[in-house]
Amino acid sequence: MTDGSFTLVPAPMHATANDGTWAPSQPVTVRTCEAFLPAARRWARDTLAAFDLDVAVTTSSGDADVTFDIDPDHRPGGYALTVTPDAVSVSAADLAGAHHAAQTLRQLAGPQAFRAHAAPSTSLTVPCATIHDHPRFGWRGIHLDVARHFVPKHEVMRFIDHAAAHHLNVFHFHLTDDQGWRMPIDRYPELTTVGAWRTHSQVGNSRPPVFDDRPHGGRYSKDDLREIVAHARSRGVMVMPEIDVPGHVDAAVTAYPQLSSVGDPTTVLPTWGFGRDVLNPSHENVEFFTHILDEVMEIFDAPFIGIGGDEVPTNPWRQNPQIVAHAQSLGLSDVGELHGWFLAQLADHLQEHGRRAVVWDEGLSALLPRSAAVTSWRGIEAGAIALKSGHDAIMAPEQVVYLDHRASDHPDEPIPVGFVRTIEDVLAFDPLPPEVVAAHPELEAVARTDVLAPFPGDRPVAVDGQQGALLGAQAQVWTEHLDTPRRIDYATWPRLAAFAEAVWAPHTDRTPGTKASAEFMDRLASHLARLDAMGIEYRPLDGPHPWQTRPGITTITRDLDAEMAKAGWGGAGGLHEDGDGHAWTASQ
Ligand code: ACM
Repeated sequence: MTDGSFTLVPAPMHATANDGTWAPSQPVTVRTCEAFLPAARRWARDTLAAFDLDVAVTTSSGDADVTFDIDPDHRPGGYALTVTPDAVSVSAADLAGAHHAAQTLRQLAGPQAFRAHAAPSTSLTVPCATIHDHPRFGWRGIHLDVARHFVPKHEVMRFIDHAAAHHLNVFHFHLTDDQGWRMPIDRYPELTTVGAWRTHSQVGNSRPPVFDDRPHGGRYSKDDLREIVAHARSRGVMVMPEIDVPGHVDAAVTAYPQLSSVGDPTTVLPTWGFGRDVLNPSHENVEFFTHILDEVMEIFDAPFIGIGGDEVPTNPWRQNPQIVAHAQSLGLSDVGELHGWFLAQLADHLQEHGRRAVVWDEGLSALLPRSAAVTSWRGIEAGAIALKSGHDAIMAPEQVVYLDHRASDHPDEPIPVGFVRTIEDVLAFDPLPPEVVAAHPELEAVARTDVLAPFPGDRPVAVDGQQGALLGAQAQVWTEHLDTPRRIDYATWPRLAAFAEAVWAPHTDRTPGTKASAEFMDRLASHLARLDAMGIEYRPLDGPHPWQTRPGITTITRDLDAEMAKAGWGGAGGLHEDGDGHAWTASQ
């Protein structure tokens, strides 16, 4: 069991405190096998900066202060870390495990290890310990929406640093939406010259909407995106880009009106919620988006590419006779099936290039290739159905792990939207809770087996007749109401530390009031010193600082108990349509 004296977050599987400390003299020598060089270098660079030490990394044999060795007996992503007064040794079966060991060693060195320069009278001193550790889930994701509010490159990399320090290993990069398109596409330059800019923005989510009168926008260059990918990789984090289709496309349609199903001129959307338009799912537009995905695959090397699929109104298709005829010519029994058909074309294209699509749960259909994984956001039920139909799934339910939702029901919470989700609520997150397994007993084995892969993409696709694997879980940071990196820090932390614990540490009951919950909150109180050293402007445990409040912004909130009573883990969120051409969303 964990020894609380280390205050590690997430808690390691087994940790023993031993007498003494390791306090190396300069130069600190690091010997590593070739395979673990990136993790050894990362640790060396962070340590050199934080403690102003000479740190030399070599792959040659011989004695060293710190050693990184392969040991195939470890679990995927797992490691052993031994600190004695004379040396530190790390062993792992894969590079992911070596990265996790390096981050644990960094946490053991105290808050100073998270600074970029040495403070006076600090020195590298690590308590002696023996740690054996491995993750519960292979996919421990964090999503960031850079479409609603643009997030500058250096802030994206900073966000990834903080996630990696908590053993999170997937960065879901939500690059496009109605309110902005952030990735340049050489073949279609207007996606960013036009689609990255809007004239004004909604403030809060009241009805009727209130607006500021400031233009907003931003785009990355391809070199920025390459830099982000390399930055993440050097910390053991996979960047999964998302191009959201066939809904959430007003920015793209504004730039290229031939993509429209409606046919009227539109604008990059200044309101939250969803756009009025949706892609015309013609063969030409499938081709348009395969060209986009080709450029996406050039930059992003992840085995997974997100293609969206959430909140797609079908009324624009039903009202367009050419699209109705297109659905008939494809042999589809309903125009709405164009949603699944369009996603399947893109998922097939990715598969032909050796990549796997990831869709939000509305994108699950009989047409979706087996290789595609499903991110279950409206609840957990959709993810359970995806697993049963043979798709790998990632649980990301808005009821628990949408970190843009309000952190308490206090009126001072800045721009309070969504459900109340405290740190303790996020900590208690169970990606496959007993009531969902009871409703789907065949998922018992999936729930019990920790499905691990050294890297999320390393799991083979399930073959026909097999259930999918629960790859893991993901927390979401949507930015409609988070217009600056400071607001992102506030919403994300320290709740993301609780999420990291929930997806890394062994399964146990962590509901509020349990011993595990109280123990975590104690540990977190010490861990905050590390977040301070990282420079994170997290939400204080007892509520916002005065300058973190945003008085005067009206919002509509949601009641979790009422929605759970009505819809359970099926979820009441997502898009709703009636037959009269109206559509609405509960999501924001
Ligand atoms: C979503 O929240 N629309 C995935």
